[in-house]
Amino acid sequence: VSGSPRARALVTGAAGFVGSHLAEALAAAGRDVVGIDSFSDTYPAAVKERNLARLSASPGFRLVRGDLVDLPLAPLLDGVGAVYHLAARAGVRASWGAEFDRYTHDNLLATQRLLEAARDLRLERFVYASSSSVYGDARELPVTEEAPTEPVSPYGATKLTAEHLGRIYHRSYGVPFVSLRLFTVYGPRQRPDMAFHRFVRAVAAGEPVEVYGDGAQTRDFTYVGDAVAAFVAAGAAEGVVGEVINVGGGVRIALRDAIEMIGEIAGRAPRVSTRPKARGDAAHTLASIRKAERLLGYRPATPLVEGLREELRWVREQAGFSAGR
Ligand SMILES: NC(=O)c1ccc[n+]([C@@H]2O[C@H](COP(=O)([O-])OP(=O)(O)OC[C@H]3O[C@@H](n4cnc5c(N)ncnc54)[C@H](O)[C@@H]3O)[C@@H](O)[C@H]2O)c1
Repeated sequence: VSGSPRARALVTGAAGFVGSHLAEALAAAGRDVVGIDSFSDTYPAAVKERNLARLSASPGFRLVRGDLVDLPLAPLLDGVGAVYHLAARAGVRASWGAEFDRYTHDNLLATQRLLEAARDLRLERFVYASSSSVYGDARELPVTEEAPTEPVSPYGATKLTAEHLGRIYHRSYGVPFVSLRLFTVYGPRQRPDMAFHRFVRAVAAGEPVEVYGDGAQTRDFTYVGDAVAAFVAAGAAEGVVGEVINVGGGVRIALRDAIEMIGEIAGRAPRVSTRPKARGDAAHTLASIRKAERLLGYRPATPLVEGLREELRWVREQAGFSAGR
């Protein structure tokens, strides 16, 4: 049945941080899920294999290992109702310099190829994982979806361009594209290059916490469970096609205060060592989530202290895992 939430879902980047959580949630809701992931080299494949551990026990889940740029996509899209496109090369700092061709490959070519494959299908929904980095240094906070898009990193430029591609395929071919602009997602399985992961790991290990800049930069942090709820809602809700929607935690905190909080949770005073400010990092982020509330019934459910506790528990479990190998 058209619109059936039981139709198969395709999740790209399914072995990654957010994608593995989303695929789990969809499979747990009884959906057939096909995951695609290239196990790109941004962090160890072993970590991604562990991200998939729970999913491999789901009867409705199947993983296809391969690159969206080379895989034959038509057979993979057969019977699919909703595409959740999370595969990308993420991370701001590595997007300068020679690595940029990997960003164009994973963020632009892969997206264009998926949209081409989707253009003549009758998909229910094509949900794209965009990023707060499309805004750059927002002039007004909280940032609404109408704010100017002026990325300050090459990564942000690729995320914005991919969003434009989606809009273009929606306009010209009716691909039911909706873009979720995620604001720093954290929680268990967070990418090892991301600030909270590095902070939590350092505090847990009793090592110095490295902060880029003075730590006064503020971020809107989104718990991964909340981000997943937004994706699930965007895959099903009426009236969202063609929209861009912010997904944030709705509050912001200075990095140095977050580090304090991690110290309190871990029961260990953090030692901070500062590094020069990273180029391409926005100074402050805060999402207006009114549109997500209105269109998706979105409501962040996990307070920062609880989400950080979950991330710490996971980091400790991982440390035990590698020590036991
Ligand atoms: N984590 C965040 O805070 C955040 C914030 C804003 C936006 N996003 C976006 O959300 C998505 C998921 O981010 P994440 O943090 O889970 O990243 P991640 O790196 O953990 O996951 C992305 C996955 O995509 C796969 N992949 C990359 N290129 C591919 C290709 N060409 N073909 C097939 N698979 C490919 C990678 O192997 C990886 O497992 C990305 O699109 C990212 O830009 C994330």
